[in-house]
Amino acid sequence: MEVVILPDAAAGAGVVADAVAALLGRRPEAVLGLATGSSPVPVYDELVARYRAGAVSFAQARAFLLDEYVGLPAGHPQSYATYIDRVFTSRVDFGPGAVRSPDGTASDLAAAGVAYEAAIKAAGGVDLQLLGIGGDGHIGFNEPGSSLASRTRLKTLTGQTRADNARFFASLDDVPRHVITQGVGTILAARHLVLVAQGATKAAAVALAVEGPVTAMVPASALQLHPHVTVVLDEAAASRLSLASYYRETYANKPAWQGL
Ligand code: F6R
Repeated sequence: MEVVILPDAAAGAGVVADAVAALLGRRPEAVLGLATGSSPVPVYDELVARYRAGAVSFAQARAFLLDEYVGLPAGHPQSYATYIDRVFTSRVDFGPGAVRSPDGTASDLAAAGVAYEAAIKAAGGVDLQLLGIGGDGHIGFNEPGSSLASRTRLKTLTGQTRADNARFFASLDDVPRHVITQGVGTILAARHLVLVAQGATKAAAVALAVEGPVTAMVPASALQLHPHVTVVLDEAAASRLSLASYYRETYANKPAWQGL
């Protein structure tokens, strides 16, 4: 696992956008895994800027979202399909149908999970998966206690996650209780995992995920089992890491050819 500590979200976004652009340069038809929420927005803004400058194209790429609320009607402004369209995918040149999300409107959610797994597999798997982290250590919407081998399925949000996400809704009561999310096992099948986190509210979860034991109580700790993980943090999110100075030294002396 590589931990990259940078002064702010903009610096982190630049490094992550470099990795996405390099991937698309090598493999224009790459499959991206997209997270929603606030953390990846600086990355998306940076990618949009590079697209507008002609430096990157998504025309042949495909993308899969991590998760979706259950019960929000299609087109609801806070559904993750609508959110990603608004903050990123409609601002660049993805082709029609290239961006998929789990179907939170399905009457048979178990079947929708199986179908989503099959769609990811049919696309050849995810090349680069962007991740945020919840204050409770969740990735995707795999809350504490999630199986580390889990696949796309229904989950129930914790009270903390619903409260954290209430800022996107008119009231806490409007935040759905249920979601359909890629499992931890689904996420671990992607070829490169890039987790971004900013701010002191993420510092404890980041420290447990990166330096704590691997445990279902901190689903993000499963990233330690993956051979290619990059964790991009601002100073505040990195503030509880005991090996922070080692990570800084490693990154500062990294050979330029290595990339992320
Ligand atoms: C979103 C997702 C979640 C968020 C996490 C952090 O698709 O999968 O795991 O990444 O809840 O959310 P923010 O970035 O809003 O703090």
